[in-house]
Amino acid sequence: MSKDLFAKYDVAAPRYTSYPTVPYWSGAAFPPSDWLQHVQNAFSADRQISLYIHLPFCESLCTYCGCNKHITRNHAVEHPYIETVLREWRMYLAALSGKPVLRELHLGGGTPTFFHPDNLRYLLENILRDVEVPDNHDFGFEAHPWSTTDDHLHTLYDLGFRRISIGVQDFDEDLMKLVNRRQTVESVERCTERARAIGYESVNYDLIFGLPKQTLAHIREDARHVARLRPDRIAFYSYAHVPWLKKSQCAYSEADLPTGAAKRRLYEAGRRWFEADGYAEIGMDHFALPHDSLFKALRDGTLHRNFMGYTPYKTSLMIGLGASAIGDTWDAFAQNEKTIADYERVVNAGTLPVFRGHRLNGEDQRQRQHILNLMTRFETGWSSEEADDEILAAALARLEPLMADGLVERRPFLVRITPEGRNFLRNICMAFDAHYWRRQPEGKLFSQAV
Ligand SMILES: C[S@@+](CC[C@H](N)C(=O)[O-])C[C@H]1O[C@@H](n2cnc3c(N)ncnc32)[C@H](O)[C@@H]1O
Repeated sequence: MSKDLFAKYDVAAPRYTSYPTVPYWSGAAFPPSDWLQHVQNAFSADRQISLYIHLPFCESLCTYCGCNKHITRNHAVEHPYIETVLREWRMYLAALSGKPVLRELHLGGGTPTFFHPDNLRYLLENILRDVEVPDNHDFGFEAHPWSTTDDHLHTLYDLGFRRISIGVQDFDEDLMKLVNRRQTVESVERCTERARAIGYESVNYDLIFGLPKQTLAHIREDARHVARLRPDRIAFYSYAHVPWLKKSQCAYSEADLPTGAAKRRLYEAGRRWFEADGYAEIGMDHFALPHDSLFKALRDGTLHRNFMGYTPYKTSLMIGLGASAIGDTWDAFAQNEKTIADYERVVNAGTLPVFRGHRLNGEDQRQRQHILNLMTRFETGWSSEEADDEILAAALARLEPLMADGLVERRPFLVRITPEGRNFLRNICMAFDAHYWRRQPEGKLFSQAV
């Protein structure tokens, strides 16, 4: 792969966990009553819902972290937070005509395993009481290996969880100390083995490439641990450096960050090693073993991408509960108040805590589908009616330089990403991002594409 292409395409680019991307949402003028109307319409399709619950607390600050979290050692925060989430949930329940079928449940953070298992049980029993749980449900949670106890694993298993996503980042303990993360190889091993012994069916590892001072030798070692412990899935994230948003990322020197072609080499080496061990690359930065549902979804064409990354299928309605959580009805997005204080204040005043959102018009929905197709199938097509659409024509014109570089191929009514082009998926999706090209950002919004 040419170094020049990495230099050429190493621009700031969104990760497209949503389209339009959050900075291009129409903004604050999105009354909760309008959002509820979208929720009700989406619910009426088949009553199936996905639920994301944001559990934002962490005991200590990992300096690389780009997520929405609140650092505290005071566990008295758990109870009022859970009561607020349940209050928010009851507002949704009151608006839905019928019992929701809970197809997908994801606990994200922060660190869900910050919470005492009894508190997680209380939260989840109160939610599960009012829903139907289908046999093919998919419940998963993010686990910090250092704080995940047997009690957490048993409690969540008893409540129907079969998937665990372990935050590993990198196995090297010295590298983790540099980013203030307390973790050992033994803690990851223990968490993996205990989860499997209890009956969890899918273990995911979150790994990051591009961390400060991370080298090929670290990735080699990570791949060795992967080969030994055999997680069913791997999320191999590109380190997102956004110090203008996350001040803790100023704790290390930018000179220590692998960038451009050097950073990409870390990914390519990881990919080679994972593939040699039987993993298949899924979309952008994910890998799975052939028995895993993510791999099957890729094969069956049902793979979807949402705010949590890749998932095996899509429900018409995704409800986000908790501070900063995002909901999605395909034709609208809504995000909750970001700080815990604002979130608790608004919910406890009896109002849905939506502070911004976006209604997708027909053009947004078409562009969203193109970007989703590229992210999940590495190609997107269009009908003969859409062929005359100006927005599509503009996207295809923007792809011309990428076609000349051999990253994308044009066929009648279709564009397809070449194997080389997969390294530039974010750049290729940007061609379809009509909002971005109408108004390019003045300040820094996105991390680098490479
Ligand atoms: C919300 S975090 C929760 C992880 C959990 N708290 C833990 O520490 O194990 C989810 C994942 O986001 C990824 N992540 C966080 N900050 C990132 C960044 N700056 N760039 C890339 N990935 C990041 C990490 O891989 C992390 O495991």
